[in-house]
Amino acid sequence: MSPKEYNFSKVTGISQKTLDIHYNKLYKGYVNKANEIGEKLRVYALGGGDVETVNPTFHDLRSLRDAETFAVNAVYLHEHYFDALGGDGVPGGELKKAIEEKWESYANFERYFKVSCLAARGWLVLAWNNNTKKINIYMADAHNQGGVWGCEPILVFDAYEHAYFIDYGSDRKSYINDFFKNLNWDALNKKYKEATGE
Ligand SMILES: [Fe+2]
Repeated sequence: MSPKEYNFSKVTGISQKTLDIHYNKLYKGYVNKANEIGEKLRVYALGGGDVETVNPTFHDLRSLRDAETFAVNAVYLHEHYFDALGGDGVPGGELKKAIEEKWESYANFERYFKVSCLAARGWLVLAWNNNTKKINIYMADAHNQGGVWGCEPILVFDAYEHAYFIDYGSDRKSYINDFFKNLNWDALNKKYKEATGE
């Protein structure tokens, strides 16, 4: 994997310092770890490693398999989060229509998403569910926990304290409100279009 590039100059509320640490230290750290884990798994994939003692309690291969989903999901979730930032926050397009269809009004969705953000320890995700062919909101308390197979993230909120504590302290509500003010609906609609295949 290689890190995606971002320009956070248009983001307001969330400070450049927070975004710099979030992107350069944390996100790039997950990219590096994902690559390191991938290299170590490749040893097993090519017939190497200690395969005689593999077990589900403790083993190098087990640790690598577990770490892989943690690191790779961390990369993807952070990319969706960063992709969503840098806009004017004015909702529109096909995604807004789908939201209004699902939750009867955009206001209902925003209220429900925001309050769900307060309940999350890790991530809150608006996703396209390819099984039901509908959008839905899911919560993940860790990078590799809470995800639903067959779902494509569209709008991803990072609820970890590293995403806001420098700027907002424990006031997560203000962080959530500023997150919505920075949403890039062109980027969100592009993801929705790609996810739905329309
Ligand atoms: Fe994060």
